Order: sequence, then C-alpha cells, then structure tokens
Amino acid sequence: MPRTLKELHNDLTVKLTGVVEYPRREAELLLIAYLQKDQLYFISHQDTVLDEDEPRLLEWTERRVRNEPLEYLTNRVSFYSREFYIDEGALIPRPETELLIDAVLATVSTDTSLTFVEVGAGSGIISILLALHLPNARFIAVDISPRALDVARRNITDFGLDHRIELREGDLLSCVDEKIDFLVSNPPYIANDASLEHNLSYEPQNALFGGTVGDEIIQRLLDEVYARHIPIFACEMGYDQQIKVQEYLKTFAVQSLEFYKDLASFDRGFILKAHHE
Ligand SMILES: C[S@@+](CC[C@H](N)C(=O)[O-])C[C@H]1O[C@@H](n2cnc3c(N)ncnc32)[C@H](O)[C@@H]1O
Repeated sequence: MPRTLKELHNDLTVKLTGVVEYPRREAELLLIAYLQKDQLYFISHQDTVLDEDEPRLLEWTERRVRNEPLEYLTNRVSFYSREFYIDEGALIPRPETELLIDAVLATVSTDTSLTFVEVGAGSGIISILLALHLPNARFIAVDISPRALDVARRNITDFGLDHRIELREGDLLSCVDEKIDFLVSNPPYIANDASLEHNLSYEPQNALFGGTVGDEIIQRLLDEVYARHIPIFACEMGYDQQIKVQEYLKTFAVQSLEFYKDLASFDRGFILKAHHE
C-alpha cells in the first residue's frame, strides 16, 4: 500500500524501536539513504507518497531490524568529511580514527616525501586521507584479508590514488622489504573473549580481535619497529591499553612516546619516536 514519507517514517520507527538506540533518527537516516536524498528533502517532502512495497526498502528494513549496521546496507560511510565505499569485507571506519590521522599530520610537514606503511588497511581510509594531505609521500598499505583489500582498492581507485598507494596482502610487515620511514596502524586490539554489542557481529572478526589479551598485535608491531629500525610509529589502541604499552616499551630505547585522547578523554592511541643505535 502506498504511504507518505511521514507514515513510512513512523512505521519504520516502530519496527526499529527496541532494536537500535535512536529508532526515529535511524529510520530517518535509512529513508534518506534509500531515497538518495538529503535531510532537507526529507523534511520538506513528508507528504510525498512512496510505494512501501519497494523490495529493496523492505530488505533494508529487515536487515536493519536484525541490527545490521546502516553503512553495510547503503555501502556508504563518512569519514573525515569524505564519503567512502564500504561492505562486510572491511571494518566500518570509526570517528575516533580521525584522531589518528590528526596525530600523524601533526608530526610531519605537508611536503614530506617519507615512505609510510600502514598495517591493517581495512577500507583504506587512513592511507587515503594521509595521501590526500601529504602529496609527496609514498604509501604501502597491508592487510591480511583479501576481502578488506578489495574494499580498499575500490576506494583508492575512487579517489584516483592508485599510483600513490600500493596494496599488499600479508601478515603485518612480512610483505614489506623496503625501508619504512613511518609506520601507522589501527590494528585489532580487543580481547578475543570480550563480549561485544550484537551489531559488531556483522563486522570482520579479524578486524576487531587482537588476541587473548587484546594487545598482542600492538606488541608485535612494536617489536617490528625495533627489529626494522622504523623511526616513527603512530597507532590507535584501546582506552585501557596505555599502561601496557608503556610497560612493554620499558626494555626498548624511546626518544619520545606521546599518547592522545578522544573527546571523552579516553586514551585512544600513541605516537612513538623510537631511538635506534
Ligand atoms: C581495526 S581494523 C582497521 C581498518 C582500517 N584501517 C580502519 O581504521 O578503519 C584492522 C585491520 O587489520 C587487519 N589485520 C588483522 N590482523 C592482521 C595482520 N596480522 N596483518 C595485517 N593486517 C591484519 C584486519 O583485516 C583489519 O582490516
């Protein structure tokens, strides 16, 4: 039965109530994405009649009722004021990762020609944003997941950066023989047995879980920094991992170690400048 946008919004809100935290807002976002319009259109076309039986809208609604993230339905995600392609092959970029980009950009000059290596590229957002801001730098982006690399490749091509960002499949730095000037990573850092919200079950599990304790991959990356004489390492981490990182680094020579926080004052990551003999 055809319905107005307003009626459809109310129906969707009811369906999402008890499933998501903000059902009315989520229903609005879903309809805006479905109609491929903006919020202004949504507000000003409340009485427009739509065909509710459109199969794709029904499918999206069912998937959203099962708590599947909106980004995987729409295949779009915003990050650092840009739009990226996303699907179930890669982690949905999180707003806190924008702080990692800021931390890196605060460390180098815009005309730097350093070689950056990113471990755990996922959708490619970190390397893409850095490549856009640092036009002379070179980027190698590694991921262990071929599906994530497919997502990254699509985004890199969309941004016209194929000649600047080289994608490689491998475990941490096993596929990188080149000298690395700057290592950057948002690695998986959640403990394997952590109980997570249901909606996270749709995301690639090897993008979330970092080992029995959670910080095993961060520690392996710190080992690489010293084994490979990498001068700078910027890394996102869990809010409770600062002390573990400091303790792990006690046996290594450190030039400087600075932690950064998110807007809620939780620790979110660090920039390590290593001291190499
Ligand atoms: C937390 S996600 C980060 C994705 C993306 N960089 C972002 O910030 O949204 C971690 C990524 O690391 C990848 N990964 C996990 N273990 C890895 C390993 N041993 N070597 C390389 N990549 C790995 C996962 O496939 C996943 O894409």
